[in-house]
Amino acid sequence: MATLMDGAALAARIREEVKSDLAELGAVRLATVLVGDDPASQIYIRLKHRAADEVGIEAIDKRLPDDTPEDGLLELVEELNEDDAVDGILVQTPLPPQIDEARVMRALDPVKDVDGLHPFNAGQLFFGHQTLVGATPVGIMRLLAEYQVPVAGARAVVVGRSLIVGRPVAMLLLHANATVTICHSRTQDLARHTLDADILVAAVGQLGLISTDMVKQGAAVIDVGMNRTDEGLFGDVDPNVADVAAFLTPVPGGVGPMTIACLLENAVRAARYRSGALAFPRI
Ligand SMILES: NC(=O)c1ccc[n+]([C@@H]2O[C@H](COP(=O)([O-])OP(=O)(O)OC[C@H]3O[C@@H](n4cnc5c(N)ncnc54)[C@H](OP(=O)(O)O)[C@@H]3O)[C@@H](O)[C@H]2O)c1
Repeated sequence: MATLMDGAALAARIREEVKSDLAELGAVRLATVLVGDDPASQIYIRLKHRAADEVGIEAIDKRLPDDTPEDGLLELVEELNEDDAVDGILVQTPLPPQIDEARVMRALDPVKDVDGLHPFNAGQLFFGHQTLVGATPVGIMRLLAEYQVPVAGARAVVVGRSLIVGRPVAMLLLHANATVTICHSRTQDLARHTLDADILVAAVGQLGLISTDMVKQGAAVIDVGMNRTDEGLFGDVDPNVADVAAFLTPVPGGVGPMTIACLLENAVRAARYRSGALAFPRI
């Protein structure tokens, strides 16, 4: 039976560390921007604000209507970039179709980009000189380290290639010397790849996509998926995978709380970059 990787417990420890960082740093401010009223995004924003409040990070809640034109959002981003009191900015995705997400990410001041989505930060990750890296991929690596899952030399398979989870976690695994395969919706014979994985990361958003017969005996399985149903929140991995895996993240209580805790850490990191306590590389 797999060891369940307790993301909630590790996240609680990280939040305590953030609290003591704040005692040393003073005020840290994180602005979140939500465009529209996507119900899942509203939940994520609420959770992020609650966690920030609990540790003493001041969270600023900016909301724009669903029909906001791209220029309207770019103006707000510019305002937040220029506001000296704001350390970190998070623009919740998905954005409505009239807005080009890539353009918005390019508009962020890279030093405030707590999701690591500005091309400068994504490029830093690509080169292995990490600055701000998204909270979910960082949280996954922290969980693997906490449970002493060997990464160097391991075969890692990441299912999903989004900019926010799949690609950055694949890059972190690669930098940690795993042999990495990235699968996506056009991958043929997914099981052939997943069965080879010592570390399997599922970041798709399809309930139960990864079944027991797709997992190698003794693998570490990280379930990023968050699928809301009338019966509750479920991941991309069938919970029976616990019968074959050595480690498995539960949903809820695995990657989710780690994402929130690592976001708070990123806000602290951004504040340190801005104060000069950490050097932010500039071109
Ligand atoms: N726990 C957390 O903190 C956290 C954080 C972020 C996201 N999430 C959850 O994680 C899931 C993924 O999020 P995301 O933002 O990365 O999603 P996304 O942007 O929709 O990306 C999904 C990825 O899955 C791939 N895919 C779709 N169907 C597939 C299939 N049948 N086989 C293999 N790959 C398939 C897609 O391939 P293509 O690229 O070919 O379309 C895409 O790369 C969602 O459930 C989301 O709610 C959780």
